[in-house]
Amino acid sequence: MKSVLWAAVLTLSAARELDGCGASDANLLFRRQRICASLTQSPSYYCGESWKNVSKDVAHEDWPSQATYMHDMLAALSGPTTCLNTSYAKDTVEWMNTAMSNETLAGGSFMGTWLDFQVGYFQTPMPPTAPRIESPSTLGRKCWAFAYLKQLWEPTLLETAVQAVGLNISFFISEYNKAIPLTFALCEKVIHNCFLNASVAPRPPCPASVDEFHVGFERENILRGDIVQYPFSQ
Ligand SMILES: *[C@@H]1O[C@H](CO)[C@@H](O)[C@H](O)[C@H]1NC(C)=O
Ligand SMILES: *[C@@H]1O[C@H](CO)[C@@H](O)[C@H](O)[C@H]1NC(C)=O
Ligand SMILES: *[C@@H]1O[C@H](CO)[C@@H](O)[C@H](O)[C@H]1NC(C)=O
Ligand SMILES: *[C@@H]1O[C@H](CO)[C@@H](O)[C@H](O)[C@H]1NC(C)=O
Ligand SMILES: *[C@@H]1O[C@H](CO)[C@@H](O)[C@H](O)[C@H]1NC(C)=O
Repeated sequence: MKSVLWAAVLTLSAARELDGCGASDANLLFRRQRICASLTQSPSYYCGESWKNVSKDVAHEDWPSQATYMHDMLAALSGPTTCLNTSYAKDTVEWMNTAMSNETLAGGSFMGTWLDFQVGYFQTPMPPTAPRIESPSTLGRKCWAFAYLKQLWEPTLLETAVQAVGLNISFFISEYNKAIPLTFALCEKVIHNCFLNASVAPRPPCPASVDEFHVGFERENILRGDIVQYPFSQ
């Protein structure tokens, strides 16, 4: 896949001359490189060294930002001005449906991050070897991204666009549909458990902690134009 990616990069300017799809390919390339730069900072078969080409000001490495870069890619693939008939677009759809969908691909796959790495922060109790325990505010920021991915998800639009050019993104869609309820439930779980490092059990209300969680959620929301409804039960 790496050689396909780089070959596609080298032919982008040629494609621009040939069929008027150069701007579309360049847009996909930017979004793909930004996803890579936000998820990985070492060479890999699925991102090459493209992470080096996007500055850290543009590709933030935090989870809410990673989710928004993926959404921007999905919007491009679903959008009316994108040429999905080019070889680079075809390669990008395949990349989305393989490496980016692969939960078990550690260190740079979108689904590995969503379904595995982020999920690790919600274990109760947290094993001593697991990631650090985050504050209610930080968990609110993580849960903003889960809600964002849920509320802005338009799988029919994506699938229709991709199928129209004979391509297949069904594995990505099924993994995405699996991640939404899984991660939404994790947010509810930690809220009801008052963000304690302890087994899930009925707890007296903890409004100050829930407020802190909500502030973390809104902090991400305000940064991005208040586009997500607060969806949790407390
Ligand atoms: C792709 O479709 C566009 C119109 O949407 C057309 O201008 C272009 O020639 C096509 N390119 C290829 C490689 O088929
Ligand atoms: C990435 O940057 C390097 C040098 O800065 C350049 O040689 C290379 O063509 C760039 N690759 C892409 C995909 O833009
Ligand atoms: C996902 O990645 C792992 C690790 O590289 C690999 O063994 C597995 O075959 C991949 N799964 C799919 C469905 O491509
Ligand atoms: C969280 O609880 C588990 C189980 O009691 C314990 O092993 C772990 O060290 C605790 N983590 C922190 C950071 O307190
Ligand atoms: C897409 O690929 C999957 C296997 O990965 C297959 O089950 C499915 O039928 C394909 N969908 C289309 C529309 O080709």
